[in-house]
Amino acid sequence: MCGIVGYIGERLAAPILLEGLRRLEYRGYDSAGIAVTSETLDVHKQVGRVKDLLAVVPEDLHGKAGIAHTRWATHGGVTVENAHPHIDAEGKIAVVHNGIIENATILRERLEDEGVVFRSETDTEVLSHLIAKCLKEQPDPVMALRAALRLVRGTWGIAVLFEDHPNTIIAARNGSPLVIGLGDGETFLASDPHALVPYTRRVVYLQDGEIALISASGVTTQLLDGDARDPVIETLEAEWAEAEKGDFPHFMLKEMHEQAQALRRCLSGRVVAEDGRANLGGLELSSREMVNIQRIGLLGCGTAHYACRVGATAIEQLARVPALAEVASEFRHRNPVIHPQSLYFAVSQSGETADTLGAVREVQIKGGQVRGVVNVVGSTIARECGSGVYIHSGPEMAVASTKAFSNMVAALYVFTLQLARARTLAPHEARAFAEELMMVPDLVESYLQQEVNVAPVVEWIQDCRSVLFLGRGLSAAVAAEGALKLMELAYVPCLSYPSGEMKHGPIALLEQGSPVIVIAPEDEVRDKTLSNLQECRARGARVALIHTEGDPIAKHADVSISVPRTSRWFTPFLTVLPLQLLAYQTALAMGRDIDRPRNLAKSVTVE
Ligand code: M6R
Repeated sequence: MCGIVGYIGERLAAPILLEGLRRLEYRGYDSAGIAVTSETLDVHKQVGRVKDLLAVVPEDLHGKAGIAHTRWATHGGVTVENAHPHIDAEGKIAVVHNGIIENATILRERLEDEGVVFRSETDTEVLSHLIAKCLKEQPDPVMALRAALRLVRGTWGIAVLFEDHPNTIIAARNGSPLVIGLGDGETFLASDPHALVPYTRRVVYLQDGEIALISASGVTTQLLDGDARDPVIETLEAEWAEAEKGDFPHFMLKEMHEQAQALRRCLSGRVVAEDGRANLGGLELSSREMVNIQRIGLLGCGTAHYACRVGATAIEQLARVPALAEVASEFRHRNPVIHPQSLYFAVSQSGETADTLGAVREVQIKGGQVRGVVNVVGSTIARECGSGVYIHSGPEMAVASTKAFSNMVAALYVFTLQLARARTLAPHEARAFAEELMMVPDLVESYLQQEVNVAPVVEWIQDCRSVLFLGRGLSAAVAAEGALKLMELAYVPCLSYPSGEMKHGPIALLEQGSPVIVIAPEDEVRDKTLSNLQECRARGARVALIHTEGDPIAKHADVSISVPRTSRWFTPFLTVLPLQLLAYQTALAMGRDIDRPRNLAKSVTVE
């Protein structure tokens, strides 16, 4: 979602800030802006992409300190006025903000009663006026910011630039990430380490409740009450450096092709195939604790939720523990009962999804145990869960999640094996599972090297009103993931249903030529799915069938797309691949913005 960049040092700030914004483009945004101090505070904003902002930023923008922002609209439409930075009445303070000020309306009314004239509809502008007001009572900028933050409720990652204090940027965090990069005589700030990679690997992750005083020589941190904190300097993980497109036209295509390698990273050192053992060290659960687990809840949104559905099916069937995947955005609002012997997993690529974080806190408030299954190291969900595992996909830059899905499923399968072996699975069964799991990366790799022809299906979709995705069991979750991918990339209405449910409603949609994507690998429900496929064709629908290679079921399809043979547990790793490709190729044919689909954001940090 929104992105923040800051710079202070000996170089001109503007080019560094604009490059930083460009590196944050993948997060999704609709407008951008920059503020730089030299003798005065200069602010420039524009609707659209960073390249549109570039067109309005003067080439001779001097100043060696500045802040910049990409905005994803929440309060107020997509306009220049609503873009950040927001300034105070005198234009001497500029603020960029990620998050939401929940009591903005009441604060705005109070400030308006005092004569303040607002220029935008945003919650953020309240902050710039509040800081200005506090600065009149308290000339120290850090103390003024502290006083202002005591008046607001909500979430923030903010950076503030002062015309009268040009050697300083002040940042604060409460629920919205900020990371400070330490250079040689220069200091950087960003909401996402990706913006810092070209400049430094030495970083300080700001913690919730902290304020940072940033200067060219480094950073000092303190709490909202003024107590000093020692900043902890960490080294940025090497994998952040991988986040470039290379020879691929899009990040999404690159990330699809990285799936085999990413899976190897996720499984490496965690599964011993020869004796059927698995261990996810970060979970910090002994075998005895494993045996005492009564229920498992898997929390995630979007693609992560579909990975949870695959994981829940495997856990329940193999380890015989009731397991339920829940949409994280619904979880805390239904005041769930948290059984003391339940174990929850919060599954998230970014580790910043506000809905999933809300679910984590709900479990913790009720005394439950929750572990993270997260990609981004050091992210909020990873930290707040305390223990958990990283899925090691490497940076995923495309908004459409691909390699994170595979690795989420892989990590949940490693857990399944660990749990099932502690409870129900005989050694030979565990060995067979482990051996097949370890073969998945090779199967994925060989499939991705083939030419897979989805062109006829792309043709159908371009002219259709909607697409129906069907699958049963594990393939129902894969169908849902395929529908999400096509919908978010091509902007085509897609519906996914467990195939048995089709006759209870969605069948009414079918008419001559309706495209239906059926996922029916060789498993225990394949024959039932075949019956549903025939029901579709009997109503004139055109069926694209994803099936196991060599399966004669292929003859029942209008277009048959085969995937390598594996046992039923591992089919999701393979059947999802042509669905990713279909979404990619369709979006390409329809001229969509593949890596940054409209209205979407890579990490969804608002509820
Ligand atoms: O970062 P997370 O895994 O928590 O994100 C969850 C969803 O926002 C995400 O999977 C979204 O659905 C993707 N755009 C799907 O491709």
